[in-house]
Amino acid sequence: MNLADSEEMAAHLLTRGYTQTDCLEEADLAIINTCTVRDHAEHRAVSFLGRLRQWKREKSGRRIIFAGCAAQRLGNKLKKIFPYLDLVSGAKEIDQFATLLDRSGLFPTAPGGTLSTQGITGYVTIMRGCDFACSYCIVPSVRGPVQCLPSQIILEQVRQKAAQGYPEITLLGQTVNAWQEKNKTFADLLNEVSAIDGVKRVRFVSPHPIFVTPVFLDKIKQNKKIARHIHLPAQSGSSKVLQEMKRGYTREILLEKIFALKELGFSISTDLIVGFPTETEADFEQTLTLVEEAGFSTAYCFKYSPRQGTLAAQMPLLCEKILEQRLDILLNRVKGLAQQSYQQQVGHPVQVLMETPNKGRSSNNFWVQTQKNYTIGTIVESEVLQAADTLLIVRD
Ligand code: 5AD
Ligand code: SF4
Repeated sequence: MNLADSEEMAAHLLTRGYTQTDCLEEADLAIINTCTVRDHAEHRAVSFLGRLRQWKREKSGRRIIFAGCAAQRLGNKLKKIFPYLDLVSGAKEIDQFATLLDRSGLFPTAPGGTLSTQGITGYVTIMRGCDFACSYCIVPSVRGPVQCLPSQIILEQVRQKAAQGYPEITLLGQTVNAWQEKNKTFADLLNEVSAIDGVKRVRFVSPHPIFVTPVFLDKIKQNKKIARHIHLPAQSGSSKVLQEMKRGYTREILLEKIFALKELGFSISTDLIVGFPTETEADFEQTLTLVEEAGFSTAYCFKYSPRQGTLAAQMPLLCEKILEQRLDILLNRVKGLAQQSYQQQVGHPVQVLMETPNKGRSSNNFWVQTQKNYTIGTIVESEVLQAADTLLIVRD
């Protein structure tokens, strides 16, 4: 999401005389696009802002914009602490970014460069915000309620991306599969996006398990352009903790959904939180066994971080030592998952979208090497010969 928002902000700056650079020393403007989902993320962004004080002093005319979710949460308080900060643009204001630039008077219109496009994936935001209220999560309060973009606008953006040569489209939203419009569901949208000329593969991130229903699966199962990989945040393996997190599903229901996805050939990655305030040793064990039962291809593991204003922030914390121990145990458990799931692909058919002449990503999200060379952006159908750590070698 931040990547797509950064692209959007950059596009407005290109019409104000700026050119994109990866090198801070060359830059006249730094935008820090931030996350506040965990305290650590916010802390890193703010300390980077602190370090930019010296950078700004070194050359006159340099400017700094602090954007995104941490900007939304901390607001203009930041300007008091960091007086050299030029502009604060909260996550909710992304639509008004151009107006904000104009109003500041610091960024007059001028011809600029073009955005350097990278990779084969075009990102298209289809919704923003979240209507859930997971007890640990700050997103609803910083991003606000769900706002779905109209399908007409989404499809037009996909057409543009496809015309620019992106063979893969990734639809984005905080709860991407909550997207809906009158009689249209998210599954309908996926099918319409896939039908656009030039679109060879469609991905989406991040879905909520609640909307992964038999009806959804039924509507997409014939559509092979929809990548067979889903990042499905489980958060915990304990039904009791899931309830206290207000996730809206139990371990059993989640597993049912996971098995149904696997039936359709989906690989599944996930997010897990350890040390939620009410998590007992037995609850934590349930998360460990979930990892095994679900057969995730990867899992991102996080230590619970209390976020201001959330329900869980009022609960007494577990001690840091327990959090660290549990994270350590879980990380050890998930360490081998990637290699294991690569190994399981041997002998199976794969559909690869080429990202370099001889490397690409499979529909189910594995990194694949071919024997021959192909044009970037083409799809190669083959069979997996062997897995070398986290790379599949195919017969082609
Ligand atoms: N503490 C730890 N992890 C969190 N996440 C969200 N909020 C918190 C929190 N307060 C994790 C969830 C989510 C991912 C983006 O970040 O696992 O899926
Ligand atoms: Fe946060 Fe839950 Fe919404 Fe995801 S669904 S953004 S975890 S409140």
